Amino acid sequence: MDDGLMEKVVSLCKRRGFVYPGSEIYGGLANTWDYGPMGVELKKNIQDAWWDFFVKKRLDMVGLDAAILMNPKVWEASGHVDSFNDAMVDCKDCKARFRADHLIEDAVPGIKVEGLEPKDLDKLIKTNKIKCPKCGSVNFTEARVFNLLFQTFIGPVAKDSEPVFLRGELAQSMFVDFKQILETSRKKIPFGIAQVGKCFRNEITPGNFIFRTIEFDLMEFEYFIKEEEWEKTFDYWLDEMKKWLDVVGIDSKKTRIREHGKEELSHYSKRTVDIEFETPFGWKELYGLAYRTDFDLKNHQEKTGKDMGYFDPETNSKFIPHVIEPTFGLTRSVLMVLLSAYDEENVKDADGNEETRVILRLNKNIAPFKVAVLPLMNKLVDNAKEVWEKLAPNFSTDFDTTGSIGKRYRRQDEIGTPYCVTFDFDSLEDGSVTVRDRDTMEQDRIKIDELADYLAEKLS
Ligand code: GAP
Repeated sequence: MDDGLMEKVVSLCKRRGFVYPGSEIYGGLANTWDYGPMGVELKKNIQDAWWDFFVKKRLDMVGLDAAILMNPKVWEASGHVDSFNDAMVDCKDCKARFRADHLIEDAVPGIKVEGLEPKDLDKLIKTNKIKCPKCGSVNFTEARVFNLLFQTFIGPVAKDSEPVFLRGELAQSMFVDFKQILETSRKKIPFGIAQVGKCFRNEITPGNFIFRTIEFDLMEFEYFIKEEEWEKTFDYWLDEMKKWLDVVGIDSKKTRIREHGKEELSHYSKRTVDIEFETPFGWKELYGLAYRTDFDLKNHQEKTGKDMGYFDPETNSKFIPHVIEPTFGLTRSVLMVLLSAYDEENVKDADGNEETRVILRLNKNIAPFKVAVLPLMNKLVDNAKEVWEKLAPNFSTDFDTTGSIGKRYRRQDEIGTPYCVTFDFDSLEDGSVTVRDRDTMEQDRIKIDELADYLAEKLS
């Protein structure tokens, strides 16, 4: 099944309106992608399921939607201006630019490069005689460090303006607003602040479709605790993150937990694990879980002089809370959901010829459409529309009239619609429709009056 899986998923995404290359008619812009009509629904459904699972259904979680642009001093205090870096090398012959660690890891499978200094990366490139993946040359510049923060300017004239950064992670606004949220929500520790939104990173290396992009959506929360509770809270959230994989339909058999070595830890973290996914281009980070200690709140208190302490009414004492941070790439989730859901099977068409049926076996809760209503013939469009009108207020429902019924079934299979409802000539007589199941292709004849209840039960 993995044979050409990535190419098949990318092609399906373009063909069926999930994801297109960004600004394609102008030749594109590297590592940018647009989410089309199906992609925007899928992404939003994943986001809503996440918010439901981690925020709405819990009493110990509140939300935030902060500004993307923040005072640049935030990023100095957080350590991102100094430490949010990648070492890059350029091919002197074809001018292609690569992240030095990725170049080495791709050429020497299994090698450990985390935390190495640029000069050590240079040595590894030379001793392993690593070639440029584009032109085959071994002629590289020395590794140079680039900051990943995306800089822009406020005001019409760049040279007279203050530079600001597009946020590289969501976390900082949760720390900066911590005291206001604490006071207005009246939450007691332990509790979390959750946020979903766009982040930006000056990624230079190729991205494997939507895996690594320069702008991406992140879903993450900061969970504020007493220091002594960090280990048990860390384990608790790791378990919840594993449960989430099932909620969203990411194949947990293709995931593994990877502990970060000491040299690899981010500047703010005392312990980090990644949930990795086995993609067609190797094991890759899907989500992260970090113990950020009191690093961020303490830094913001020091830099601003504002009190970030929490008063514990049980012990009558004050302390700076420690933080466990589960973080989930939303756009990365979209990719792993698609890679998990893509399936093919051989079936016979109406004339008995073998053909390949492509199916997106998406979890029903995140499928862009839950139901599609299909009039068998054009003459039945008005009658079928009445069925659509009955379903549309309760379910996200497509109405598809073009092509043979077989072609319409295939189209709905490819976008992952769990149920197709066909209105045929018998429906005029018996007030019933045929409901076809995406996964089994089994068909049930159901009274139109009972259809909404039938689907509600199937989709629950
Ligand atoms: N606040 C912690 C933080 O941002 P991170 O590991 O740098 O941690 C979090 O990023 C998650 O964001 C990753 O686990 C991944 O899912 C996603 N992510 C990171 N860089 C990305 C990129 N360039 N494109 C798409 N998703 C990305």
